[in-house]
Amino acid sequence: MKDLVLKYLKENTETFLSGEYLSNVFGVSRAAIWKVVKQLEGEGYGIESKTKLGYKLVSSPDVLNSFEVKSGLNTKRLARNVHYFKEIDSTNEYAKTLAKKSFQDGDMVISEMQSQGRGRFNREWVSRTGKGIYMSILLKPEVSYERITQLTIFVSLAICEALEDYLNTEFEIKWPNDILLNGKKICGILTEISGEVDKINYVIVGVGININLQKDDFSDNLQSKASSLRIETGSELDRKEVLQKVLTLLDKYYDDYLKGVEMPLILQKYKSKLNLMKKEVEIKVHNTKPVKGQVVDIGNNGALIVKMKDGIVKEFLSGEVSFNTELTPPNSPASIDCEPQRAAKTSMDSTNIQ
Ligand code: BTN
Repeated sequence: MKDLVLKYLKENTETFLSGEYLSNVFGVSRAAIWKVVKQLEGEGYGIESKTKLGYKLVSSPDVLNSFEVKSGLNTKRLARNVHYFKEIDSTNEYAKTLAKKSFQDGDMVISEMQSQGRGRFNREWVSRTGKGIYMSILLKPEVSYERITQLTIFVSLAICEALEDYLNTEFEIKWPNDILLNGKKICGILTEISGEVDKINYVIVGVGININLQKDDFSDNLQSKASSLRIETGSELDRKEVLQKVLTLLDKYYDDYLKGVEMPLILQKYKSKLNLMKKEVEIKVHNTKPVKGQVVDIGNNGALIVKMKDGIVKEFLSGEVSFNTELTPPNSPASIDCEPQRAAKTSMDSTNIQ
């Protein structure tokens, strides 16, 4: 009922709605309406109460709860169910427990902050209260196992385009799926998959977007590599607007992905945003010796295709990539990480992909 009362109040911000009117609409007592109003106030909604007149919504908090996320959002699959937290260890971890119980394709977990936000290679993901978007989307794509690695291409492209549309500025993608503005990382994606050779149980797409973080939210070490939309644009942004734009495009690209849209079309767009094309790079796969070469293309499966020093062309589905500073101009961005991919395993439980 809380969401319904809030909906009524949001739709009538010019007038007071009496307790009696609301109690009739919802078939409950006036005391029950009063209780809901108090609950909403506790969540940060500003509600003016006047004897004989009733209640009027005067302000809404900057929160990404289920009601706010869904209001005005028109998606086919994404965010039909939103699990909202003020605080959580990691939305990816919670999504994993949900995945093992039951979920619908596109369900989402979102939190105002994470105490143990994780990035690739188990690195920390800075997750300050109310300053970013920290969400995990649970997917159950009915596609062949071979196509699962393509998903990260669709996801990073969708988020990149959403941010570009919203800010009318060009962003870059660092292979496989970091999103950068002015050479600094704004968004990271951690994709985890559980499945068997012939069956995908679930995919969790964890997305962290630095919206209103300030310089001192990042450690000294991170300040040269990471940034936020606020730092780069100089203005505080509406997190809900950014999130809804991102969800709208993610939903559209996920739909294209499921429909099996032509890969070359997607790759053409993805490559136009990549900051690695034709660059000399160094790639380190697991604990092997780093190898050097020139990036020549991105494969249909999302692999980095590199021409090695000896002229042999190799495909990398995983690895840690950095620019080869001997050959690349010194002001190019520093290093790129990519999580090991184990598509060849017969059974996988929450293995990170790209
Ligand atoms: C990266 O290293 O680039 C990936 C960062 C992913 C961070 C997001 S924030 C929401 C979700 N929950 C986590 O613990 N991590 C992901």
